[in-house]
Amino acid sequence: MAVCNRGGDSGLVVGMETVSANGANIPAVGLGTWELRGRTCARVVEQALRLGYRHIDTAEMYDNERDVGLGLRASGVRRSDVFITTKIWPTHLAPLELERAAKESIARMRLTEVDLLLIHWPSKVIPLSETIPALCKLKTAGFARHIGVSNFTTALIEEAVKYATEPLVTNQVEWHPFLDQSKVRAACTQHGMAVTAYSPIARGKASENKALSIIGARNRKSAAQVCLRFLIQQGAIVIPRTSKIERLAENMDVFDFMLDDAEMDEIRKLANPRGRIVTMGSGPEWD
Ligand SMILES: NC(=O)c1ccc[n+]([C@@H]2O[C@H](COP(=O)([O-])OP(=O)(O)OC[C@H]3O[C@@H](n4cnc5c(N)ncnc54)[C@H](OP(=O)(O)O)[C@@H]3O)[C@@H](O)[C@H]2O)c1
Repeated sequence: MAVCNRGGDSGLVVGMETVSANGANIPAVGLGTWELRGRTCARVVEQALRLGYRHIDTAEMYDNERDVGLGLRASGVRRSDVFITTKIWPTHLAPLELERAAKESIARMRLTEVDLLLIHWPSKVIPLSETIPALCKLKTAGFARHIGVSNFTTALIEEAVKYATEPLVTNQVEWHPFLDQSKVRAACTQHGMAVTAYSPIARGKASENKALSIIGARNRKSAAQVCLRFLIQQGAIVIPRTSKIERLAENMDVFDFMLDDAEMDEIRKLANPRGRIVTMGSGPEWD
């Protein structure tokens, strides 16, 4: 996995870095869209793209794929310049269901393919020996340029990799300064996969943190920007969500400063055993 600047490519914004993993170049900052719906969603996606975002994260479950497509077309940014991720819900992971759900997601956005197709959560019922080959088939059939997983533990990553005939490029997991994810990160690195950090500003909690604010003041940045920078400096792709246009620029303006070793160490100390925010009843046993 490597971080590179792709400012020279057409349609890409100078200063917006990408993370390369198993053949995919993924913009290091994407727009999260959970809970954004209807006109708000379309407007935020449109404005984000106009401001220079080139990566949008949605999911079948967010009930906003149609709005994401509308925002994309309203922005005037070329489809080929935008990296679009969607995710398939665990009840749709049997091979035929997966194929149907992925095609419906793509159709809702009025696209012909997505850049990244993820399994949203592992299923306790449908084995990976069935889902992963079906996911690979969607890639080879041209419905997804890249494939990956989300909310996978180290054990599940090992199992998924075993069944994959196409590279898995990322594991999208909760990650922010209050949650230590070193085990799952190590497993991803071992398989050349990037880590995509969801809830990267801890649902807004990072913006109120004193240590992050002090480091921010020193760097002329907000606490949220320090939080995102902390993750990016460790190779993460971050997908912060905001419904506020003014925060879109703030959340992508994280490439013109660097946290030093002492600041990184100080932020690492914020991790605590109760730091996890997102849980699901049928979710896996976390590492
Ligand atoms: N794979 C999965 O299972 C999974 C799970 C959860 C999330 N995700 C993805 O990850 C994305 C991000 O995670 P998230 O939505 O849970 O949380 P998040 O991005 O960490 O936080 C979003 C919250 O922070 C606020 N916020 C945004 N920018 C801010 C800033 N600069 N300063 C202060 N507050 C700010 C937003 O409020 P305002 O709207 O008022 O700005 C919103 O309440 C999701 O939208 C989704 O795309 C994936």
